[in-house]
Amino acid sequence: MDMKFKIFRFDPEVDSRPRYQEYDVSAEPGERILDCLNRIRWEQDGTLSYRMSCGHGVCGSDGMRINGVCALACQKLVKDYSGGEVLVEPLPFFRVVKDLVVDMEEFLEGIRRLHPYLLSTGDIPEKERFQSPEDRKKVDDVIRCILCACCTGACPVMLENRDYIGPAALVWAYRFIFDSRDGGFEERLKGVDFPDGAWACVNHFECTRVCPKSIPVTRSINTIKRAIEKVFPRRPD
Ligand code: SF4
Ligand code: FES
Repeated sequence: MDMKFKIFRFDPEVDSRPRYQEYDVSAEPGERILDCLNRIRWEQDGTLSYRMSCGHGVCGSDGMRINGVCALACQKLVKDYSGGEVLVEPLPFFRVVKDLVVDMEEFLEGIRRLHPYLLSTGDIPEKERFQSPEDRKKVDDVIRCILCACCTGACPVMLENRDYIGPAALVWAYRFIFDSRDGGFEERLKGVDFPDGAWACVNHFECTRVCPKSIPVTRSINTIKRAIEKVFPRRPD
């Protein structure tokens, strides 16, 4: 297939403003958008910057916006862009470091602030902390998160409220709130119980639509809200 790529280019150290650059690529229908980017970089323009590592939807490093939809370039097939035109841009809301590479620091810091590790209470067990298969099932979905940030880049709430902690942070909050081995249940709920926390989500479902690991992101956020309401019932005004 003959493909035409229009790619966002911006090097803040050199360019005064972003621009778009076009590249023609010949690709097989079964190849991925990431293969095309690699071909552009290796055969046409070595200055094009983007992140990639595993190439198989595991590392989460090649999140970008492809024809307006946040996705992993390694999971998108050429055959699904039948018009042959592909617009590739960096994830929205993130500072551009260069071309398709964005600064993930603030995103990751938002997750670090939620203490993304088990908080233990009680005596240290002799062996592992036991978790039943039923309890493990409660976090089975969210544990798949690979921190690609596609959900955050796709979230319409972020358009108007950059203080929102974002869907990915809430997925990580969920992952520990509902882990039977964690001792910080109430503290963790308090940690997301504020207007720019879980309550900023208004159920657009875009995060769920774009998540490459099929995590029910919006449903998880709603489960957190219900838990907050149950544990900290509001008094009527
Ligand atoms: Fe990526 Fe899904 Fe995790 Fe969001 S929840 S960071 S879209 S894997
Ligand atoms: Fe690792 Fe795409 S390159 S997820």
